[in-house]
Amino acid sequence: MRVMSAALVALSLAAPIALHAQKAKTGAEVYGTCAACHMANGAGMAGVFPPLAGSEWVTGKPEVPIAIVLHGMQGEVTVNGAKYNSVMTPWASLFSDQEVANVVTYIRSQWGNKASAVTPAQVAAVRTATKARKTQWTAAELQKAYP
Ligand code: HEC
Repeated sequence: MRVMSAALVALSLAAPIALHAQKAKTGAEVYGTCAACHMANGAGMAGVFPPLAGSEWVTGKPEVPIAIVLHGMQGEVTVNGAKYNSVMTPWASLFSDQEVANVVTYIRSQWGNKASAVTPAQVAAVRTATKARKTQWTAAELQKAYP
């Protein structure tokens, strides 16, 4: 009985910590970070933050939005026919492969966007292939890397 209760105490202490460490944020939760600039409705802010709703950078090849979330983006980019020229910081160190997959799946399926879901394995592949990258992507670099 004493052994049993010691085991129970150990379990009750360890379980919440282990559960917390494993729980990935959902796409909507991660998007809370992005919404500061791209807005909750994905419309961005005219001339400053480009929209994700209707954006070909979001709904095209899945590697493109994955690469942008991991490493950020800078320089001139045209989105939905309008030009932007600013900087988005990288998020590779903040979000796990699962979380990047969740948020990219989220932005590809919200606000009328209808592109395929992405998997943590796809994120891991891009993360590995681009791990030497030290700067944000330019639009031209993305088009060359993922034609
Ligand atoms: C601090 C503001 C900011 C935050 C936060 C931010 N972005 Fe961006 N994002 C930008 C800017 C600015 C650009 C355009 C960069 C340029 O001019 O080259 C951009 C570009 C993009 C693009 C490509 C262009 C487009 O509009 O389709 C995608 C996709 C994107 N961001 C997704 C995300 C996601 C997903 C998150 C959250 C994980 C996020 N961003 C967080 C500012 C931000």
